[in-house]
Amino acid sequence: MTKVLFICLGNICRSPMAETLFNHHLKQAGKTADFIVDSCGTGGWHAGEKADQRMRQTAEKHGLSITHRARQIQDEDIEQFDYLLVMDQQNLRDVNDRFVNTQKKVSLITDLTQSFHGKIIPDPYFGDMRGFEEVFQLLNNVTRELADQIIHQHSKQSEG
Ligand code: 4NP
Repeated sequence: MTKVLFICLGNICRSPMAETLFNHHLKQAGKTADFIVDSCGTGGWHAGEKADQRMRQTAEKHGLSITHRARQIQDEDIEQFDYLLVMDQQNLRDVNDRFVNTQKKVSLITDLTQSFHGKIIPDPYFGDMRGFEEVFQLLNNVTRELADQIIHQHSKQSEG
């Protein structure tokens, strides 16, 4: 079982969208059963809430439903997940500040892809609906490549 955790600041916009899209790509590839996928926020202000209405609306427009409820990152997450994938440099600093000696496991979500390496997923929270659509499109492409990459890596490991 491969365990993937998407992390952003509030866990109501980017990371629940990434989780939903990643699950969607796994489903398309017939690999859902091999994975545990979740998301969380470095902050806990929105814990227990549904994803932001604008993010859910954007997802619905593309035929996807975000069912995740926000939660804050916790100590066990670091041990439990194989991939801890953050959206931007602030998330990276926050996670690494909280968990010393874990730098190896935490990566920028785009760093596991070829096409988007080094790019960040911008925070859409204080912007307009266009920003949410842009985040959707970016995350859709990033998580597709990410799913391909992790599935490929995983199948190589189980062969060898
Ligand atoms: P997210 O977006 O990190 O993509 O979920 C945000 C959500 C909430 C806040 C900031 C960013 N906030 O300041 O409450």
